Amino acid sequence: EKVILAYSGGLDTTAIIPWLKENFDYEVVCVCIDCGQEEELDGLEERAVSCGASKLYILDVVDEFCDEYVVPCVQAHAVYENKYLLGTSMARPLIAKKLVEVARKEGAVAICHGATGKGNDQIRFELGIKALAPDIKIIAAWRNDKWTLDSRESEIEYCRQHGINLPFSADSSYSRDRNLWHISHEGLELEDPALEPNYKHLLVLGKTPEDAPDVPTTVTMTFEAGVPKSVNGKEMKVSDIIRTLNKLGGENGIGIVDIVENRVVGMKSRGVYETPGGTILYEAHQQLEELILDRDTYTMKKDMGNKFADIVYEGKWFTPLREAEQAFIESTQKYVTGEVTFKLYKGNIIKAGTKSPYSLYNESIASFKTGDLYDHHDAEGFINLFGLSSKVRAMKMQEVANN
Ligand code: ARG
Ligand code: SIN
Repeated sequence: EKVILAYSGGLDTTAIIPWLKENFDYEVVCVCIDCGQEEELDGLEERAVSCGASKLYILDVVDEFCDEYVVPCVQAHAVYENKYLLGTSMARPLIAKKLVEVARKEGAVAICHGATGKGNDQIRFELGIKALAPDIKIIAAWRNDKWTLDSRESEIEYCRQHGINLPFSADSSYSRDRNLWHISHEGLELEDPALEPNYKHLLVLGKTPEDAPDVPTTVTMTFEAGVPKSVNGKEMKVSDIIRTLNKLGGENGIGIVDIVENRVVGMKSRGVYETPGGTILYEAHQQLEELILDRDTYTMKKDMGNKFADIVYEGKWFTPLREAEQAFIESTQKYVTGEVTFKLYKGNIIKAGTKSPYSLYNESIASFKTGDLYDHHDAEGFINLFGLSSKVRAMKMQEVANN
């Protein structure tokens, strides 16, 4: 029988290969899913096979990740707890989906992952697998009674005992998760919220605002029906737009977030996220919606966006609720077409103009000069009715106070 192992090439998932063979007697098929983590994927197959795997799949899903997972979140303006642009959360359901696809192709009976028992990722992987393949057994190595490796040293020693001598270092770094959209950092000094992050060691995608250039970088983006189409006049697929914006944003110290967030399992956890391109794209998209959406739709969409963020964070991607929410959001995007210009400057995104053929902004109405469409006198009757309940209550309170 076969098991599919979600394999990153790191120490944890490498140690799981001999562990699975020893404790379950499975044939181990490794799957490395590339969502843009920019890791060295060369040599990964030899590594997996030399550790006892029967084969390794490397699947490049970057474009699917951007088009099917990132774009809906941009359109929803999905932000978890006001700060987190969900980079890890967005990728997990897609990884689960690909693991299931390979499991079917290989006729595997189980899927194994290396997420810890304390985090969100275990939930996201497992809800995804359950929703797509309820018959497949899930092995969460770190929660398994047979897993006794509780430190990097013990994992390295375990690998050595099984004839695997790889150049893994014993001292731990940050716990990181990277894809095209973001990189997350947790652990080390970040575990104490009283401490400032050691940004010099921590940052991967960009620099701090202090280290950013003293002159702003101007960037122009276009969207069509809510989908990013171009940067600085060049049409590109979404993944290339994100790559370009990551570079520009990173250089200018954009999108660094330091947050204590509430994990689904109940604990608070402190992390730093770098989402340089994503932060620009979210802002640009919202900037355009400001011109285009009517007030009622905008209000409703704001609530739906918050809800969408919770759904994604909690790993409930493959659910009727996510599909229904996404359908609502998509239907608001029909006219979200236009152009946004920003100046990026030392961690700030400064607005430098927005244009859309569908803009509802009407200068002749909004202007302080008088026009035909808006008669100041209409406002008087409107305010009388709009404020009537307040006035009636205030009159009653006066009456009560005087008695
Ligand atoms: N706290 C973030 C989240 O729940 C990031 C998790 C990072 N995952 C990791 N395996 N390092 O989405
Ligand atoms: C983990 O615990 O595996 C990483 C952190 C998380 O999933 O929240």
